[in-house]
Amino acid sequence: MLLFATVSIFAVFTWSIAAQQIYDIWSTTWDRYKLFTYTNLSPNPINFPTYGFGGSLTDSSAKLLNNLKSSNSGQYNSLLKTLFDPTDGADAAGLSYLRVPLGASDFSDNAYTFDDTSVINDIRAINPYLKVHVLPWSPPGWMKDSGNIDGGNFLDQYISTFASYLLKAVQGFQSHGIPIYAIGIQNEPQNSNPTYPTCQISASQEAQIGLALRTFLSRLADAASFDDQDTFHNAFPNKEIYFTECSGSMGSDWWSDIKWDMDNLYIGSILHNARAALEWNLVLDGNGQPELPGSNSCGSPPCRGVVTLSGTSWTLNQEFYSMAQASKAVLPRDQNGPFGTRIGVSVGGSMSWGLVVNAFVTGRVNPSDWLRYSIVVLNWADTTNGAWDPQPIQTTIEFRGMQATYTFPVGVTTLWWYAPSTSSIGARTDSVSVNGTTVIPTNAPLNASVKRTSSEFEMAQDSSRPILTQYSDVKPC
Ligand SMILES: *[C@@H]1O[C@H](CO)[C@@H](O)[C@H](O)[C@H]1NC(C)=O
Ligand SMILES: *[C@@H]1O[C@H](CO)[C@@H](O)[C@H](O)[C@H]1NC(C)=O
Repeated sequence: MLLFATVSIFAVFTWSIAAQQIYDIWSTTWDRYKLFTYTNLSPNPINFPTYGFGGSLTDSSAKLLNNLKSSNSGQYNSLLKTLFDPTDGADAAGLSYLRVPLGASDFSDNAYTFDDTSVINDIRAINPYLKVHVLPWSPPGWMKDSGNIDGGNFLDQYISTFASYLLKAVQGFQSHGIPIYAIGIQNEPQNSNPTYPTCQISASQEAQIGLALRTFLSRLADAASFDDQDTFHNAFPNKEIYFTECSGSMGSDWWSDIKWDMDNLYIGSILHNARAALEWNLVLDGNGQPELPGSNSCGSPPCRGVVTLSGTSWTLNQEFYSMAQASKAVLPRDQNGPFGTRIGVSVGGSMSWGLVVNAFVTGRVNPSDWLRYSIVVLNWADTTNGAWDPQPIQTTIEFRGMQATYTFPVGVTTLWWYAPSTSSIGARTDSVSVNGTTVIPTNAPLNASVKRTSSEFEMAQDSSRPILTQYSDVKPC
């Protein structure tokens, strides 16, 4: 991992879904940057599914999980289910996107292991939707000017050799029965660090490796590092964006982390067109180990896994709850049904500053079944004049001219309702507003109202918690 947010960008396949009709926007901003400025969002339709949330099955995570499997297979299965079971109604996060280092990373204790394949197959048995995305932390040392797996620059003369190497890695997973959804060419291609596997690869080298690989593979291949999703998306609206890595660190404040994670990653990056958003290590021990000896990537404080495993018992960390809240909103409603697709949402009212919201529609296998509409809401109105003061926020949720009231506690809430499909593209023309300005006839209840909150992951704030200690807008990933 590197101390900056990392975004990987992948090539696209074409979608045949009709484009979302997002409203035109007029804006006037405080700094007069926009003065009654018109924006037509139609070139950027929100017409793709969100592939969900997850993390990296590093060698370290795979090793800890394999140890648990040998010592207590019941606990192992129970932990995998808690993380990955996508079943509607399961008390589980349904994580559906797994990133897997090809060879050693900073979270390995030995190089080039395939220990992770048995864990991946166990996860796939629990979550058939799992998308496996592989990528190396470094080409072999001899392909670089450093001659070493740690750090260095990729040498042009190995472009086609490295493409075949990546192909062999994909075939290696396939020979273990694991289909690969996506492959990246290089993790953090602008990070060369002599203490752990890293490599500087230029955009042009990546493009050439990608082209060579593309002739071998039926799908995808370019990966790049980019730190502004919106700039990238506006320049290349048809390219898919994946927010691929962020890590918590030991000792940080639970609720501050949840706010940051929802605002930036699990609501934020998806609002800015990412298809998936991921943490770094799925599992580490209570000391943030095992980490590659000598690596300076996670120092003091150490990195934290989504799960901390100690012996045969585990703790679900704040990253788990953040992702679980977001994941519940997009998981398929039916077995083999589609994932949720983002729809428009606006928040009005004097307390709108306190809410960060995303909204989705999930299609059904049987077209006559009602669609599921979900919203994920962060209420972070927890402080008044510098003093801890969690304020539940009352809202009216408006949808197709109907309304429901709901009071969001400080925390994250995921809720959903069902509504008929109005047309073949009806789902994609819907939007939700929270305390919007539309005049709604009173006593027009939202049909089926708010059917269910995913209370298993709802985080009502414990008001005895101390005032936040270290909220920061620039938490490094
Ligand atoms: C929504 O409106 C209600 C009633 O006016 C108000 O109490 C609440 O604070 C508003 N919520 C937001 C997000 O502004
Ligand atoms: C919603 O309204 C429709 C039309 O009035 C009705 O047929 C349907 O049963 C209602 N659904 C629920 C869950 O109340």
